[in-house]
Amino acid sequence: MSKKLLDIKNLFVSIEDKQILKGVNLCIQEGEVHALMGRNGSGKSSLAFTLMGHPRYRVDSGEIRFEGENVLELAPEERAKLGMFLGFQYPVAIPGVSLANFLRTSARTLSPEPITAKEMRRSIEEEAKILGIPSSFMTRSINEGFSGGEKKKIETLQLRMFKPKLAILDETDSGLDIDALRTIAQSIDRLRDGRRSILLITHYQRLLNYIRPDFVHIFLNGQIVQSGKEDLAQDLEAKGYEWIEKAMGVAN
Ligand SMILES: Nc1ncnc2c1ncn2[C@@H]1O[C@H](COP(=O)(O)OP(=O)(O)O)[C@@H](O)[C@H]1O
Ligand SMILES: [Mg+2]
Repeated sequence: MSKKLLDIKNLFVSIEDKQILKGVNLCIQEGEVHALMGRNGSGKSSLAFTLMGHPRYRVDSGEIRFEGENVLELAPEERAKLGMFLGFQYPVAIPGVSLANFLRTSARTLSPEPITAKEMRRSIEEEAKILGIPSSFMTRSINEGFSGGEKKKIETLQLRMFKPKLAILDETDSGLDIDALRTIAQSIDRLRDGRRSILLITHYQRLLNYIRPDFVHIFLNGQIVQSGKEDLAQDLEAKGYEWIEKAMGVAN
């Protein structure tokens, strides 16, 4: 029997007294891939940050449970330890911390089983090779001076190293050329093992050609307004967001 991994109930969130999320309900079972699609400004990134516990987002009401545990009281790093991971839309630079050091320290902290230095090195090398990340990147400060596409590859490398139970990926496809998109998408898709789950936040249907979602949700004005299977993303691509806004009676 499948098990609930993430359960969001009637979530209302605001930033500086502006209400951004207005009653989000979403349940992700183990092994499922969900795509969340919506226009710019609809609140997708706010949902992602709220799930990870960013202090800027104030939860006014509602619930977030991960494997049944209420995570609202937990700090971001505690949520990460439970197996939640956020791939940022705009990855942040950490000057002075090399990529290799960051990967080693975080993988060691987050891994449920001890990893030897040798295993770690081999695993980093293997994944970096698949993603086309040159070894010269390892000694550079994390995300400092890297191009948009390179940053997304580095994020994907972290994802592959940490192997979280739930990967929340915020517009991982933005700013990628076609080849980088395919490489990254395939690396993400290899996480699927029937137990790990993914919440893919994206504008475009094209990413979903590589990572085929079990469910697609349309986000509008801080809420999920429609849910369906893969074909909902194709409908959306063909008809545009205006179609759903008209259907929901929202003037643009
Ligand atoms: N730090 C902030 N202060 C004020 N408003 C914000 C802040 N961050 C986001 N918002 C607002 O919240 C809304 C949702 O933004 P966001 O979650 O980034 O949407 P999306 O990721 O769907 O493009 C937007 O109207 C945006 O202007
Ligand atoms: Mg966003």
